Amino acid sequence: MSEDPRRFERAENAENAERAESADGPEGAEGSASPTGRVALVTGASSGIGAATAATLARRGFRVLVHGRDERATAQVAARVGGVPVCADLARAVEVERLADQVVAAGGGRLDVLVNNAGFGWAGAFDAMPTETVGRLLAADLAAPIALTRALVPGMRDRGWGRVVFVGSIAGRLGVGGEAVYAAAKAGLDRFAQSIRAELRGTGVEVGVVVPGVVATAFFERRGEPYTRTRPRPVPPDKVADAVLRCVERGAAEVYVPRWLRVPVAVQAVAPAAYRWLESRFG
Ligand SMILES: NC(=O)c1ccc[n+]([C@@H]2O[C@H](COP(=O)([O-])OP(=O)(O)OC[C@H]3O[C@@H](n4cnc5c(N)ncnc54)[C@H](OP(=O)(O)O)[C@@H]3O)[C@@H](O)[C@H]2O)c1
Repeated sequence: MSEDPRRFERAENAENAERAESADGPEGAEGSASPTGRVALVTGASSGIGAATAATLARRGFRVLVHGRDERATAQVAARVGGVPVCADLARAVEVERLADQVVAAGGGRLDVLVNNAGFGWAGAFDAMPTETVGRLLAADLAAPIALTRALVPGMRDRGWGRVVFVGSIAGRLGVGGEAVYAAAKAGLDRFAQSIRAELRGTGVEVGVVVPGVVATAFFERRGEPYTRTRPRPVPPDKVADAVLRCVERGAAEVYVPRWLRVPVAVQAVAPAAYRWLESRFG
């Protein structure tokens, strides 16, 4: 975490090409996602979407650092995918810092793919949300991904290849009553991703955002309100893992899961009054 933030400044293309060539050989050049020797960190991989993503990346040949908070669950997923467990409570800045150092050490000095997936929600009226939970949610869902990106991207940029993938949410795109702080955190991630994508253009480090709707994981029970609607139907976490893989292998900037979710986002953008009317009628 002692990286100088100025290292984010865009490097000259020629310099990057040279670095990629010397660090990774030709396969490491920009555009190639060949995983030989590449190391990926998946946060929140002890459960749900993160566990599915860790398995998918491991199958594709990445060496996966499996992050979680629950030590037992994290170790189980790591054993299953042949990865390395790393534990930290991302709502605590000091643990985020420690995790970044641990990740670089566990990856033998390199980290090529950062999947910022860990997060939790909270459902209910905004003014009923405990202040401590507001702080923890913003820390884990927004501040931690920013801190990890800041700590781990300079190394990718120096090697001329890297991927940062954020698991956002449709809540962050549209806003959802009863999930105000969660939606704000995810919207913040979106803008952060968009901004660093612009800063990193031409460096070989691509930034992707996956935007899931409803996914069949423990997320809803954990946030204190199970998902009871019949539509939209929850998608399996593997679908989200495939979307993360598209960001990693193809450098995709944005993937909705399911794909039709881009429609309400587009309607809200071009016809906000119509969107508000539809939302008030159909939720
Ligand atoms: N499920 C959905 O419908 C849905 C929809 C849109 C977006 N998302 C997003 O997808 C991501 C993954 O959620 P999921 O659905 O897979 O839920 P999940 O099964 O509850 O998994 C959440 C993961 O995040 C970790 N985590 C939560 N708080 C943490 C903290 N303070 N410090 C460290 N790790 C923490 C958990 O670790 P431990 O279990 O070890 O504590 C777990 O590995 C989240 O960012 C969520 O916002 C989910």
